[in-house]
Amino acid sequence: MSPFAVTRTLPEDATGAALRADVLEGLTGRPRTLPPKWFYDARGSELFEEITALPEYYPTRAEREILAARSEEIAAAAGARTLVELGSGSSEKTRYLLDALTELRAYVPVDVSESALTRAGRALVAERPGLDVHALIADFTAPLALPATPGPRLVAFLGGTIGNLLPAERAVFLASLRGLLAPGDSLLLGTDLVKDEQVLVRAYDDAAGVTAAFNKNVLTVINRELGADFDPAAFDHVALWDAGHEWIEMRLRSRVAQTVKVPALDLAVDFAAGEDLRTEVSAKFRKEGVRDELGSAGLELTRWWTDGAGRFALSLSVAR
Ligand code: SAH
Ligand code: TRP
Repeated sequence: MSPFAVTRTLPEDATGAALRADVLEGLTGRPRTLPPKWFYDARGSELFEEITALPEYYPTRAEREILAARSEEIAAAAGARTLVELGSGSSEKTRYLLDALTELRAYVPVDVSESALTRAGRALVAERPGLDVHALIADFTAPLALPATPGPRLVAFLGGTIGNLLPAERAVFLASLRGLLAPGDSLLLGTDLVKDEQVLVRAYDDAAGVTAAFNKNVLTVINRELGADFDPAAFDHVALWDAGHEWIEMRLRSRVAQTVKVPALDLAVDFAAGEDLRTEVSAKFRKEGVRDELGSAGLELTRWWTDGAGRFALSLSVAR
């Protein structure tokens, strides 16, 4: 058997029912919204990798610092023979875990971005001939079927990506994740922490405009897949801090009154000048909140590490 297997649970055709349903629901509702998973076509994944290298975008560096310092502790506590990673992207920071997990037999990266998964998977099997890499092209918010690999399992969900789910979605997600685990399996969760508003806003509105391009890429995806006629230049990128919800909200603000057509949905959407389309939230956390959300899903928080500057946390929790 090849050490690099890819399983697809998403429709081959990205114009599948899920994208159409999401875009229809999001663009006809008020406020107008689009769900974040559609950011990540090949171009979106490239732009995200550029974001991770920006001076303003600290989460990737902070999380890497923690992984570099703590991977041995994490590996000793988890003792995993299978590492599952949700939203694995480039799998770049994951190498610290792969190096530290001495009993590891299988790595199961899960992502909606086929281009990111394939590239990361090929690089890993070339680097680590003994490792069984089973990539899963799947939506982690839908029920997941994991390949039959040896336990115990460690599920890593890095990058603060859990913050891109709304609180109610997080509760559903964590409960269904718990359902995939056996008692004693663990979850390694990366969460960005509440901090100074200016630092947060700059991380999502960088001077070079890479995040703006990333945000607008979702319009390009909808143009390509659904034949829409969004003009990305007719929208401004907006990142603002919602202090009540403790999340950053990413929006695209219509610069003018305009009507956008989406032929695949037989839809015309009016935007007033200054009207916002909400594309993403990125929630920021506190330790007690993380402990509570995990606890409600049947996951007991056992370890909590932050980077030296206290910007980002990695937590380890165990299925009971
Ligand atoms: N873990 C990497 C990448 C984070 S970016 C890091 O920490 O740098 C978020 C990743 O999650 C992207 O690779 C994106 O394609 C993936 N993703 C977003 N929503 C998803 C979903 N619903 N299901 C599966 N993957 C998703
Ligand atoms: N998980 C990342 C985060 O919330 C995703 C992200 C970073 C993002 N920058 C973005 C999503 C800009 C949309 C727009 O930090």
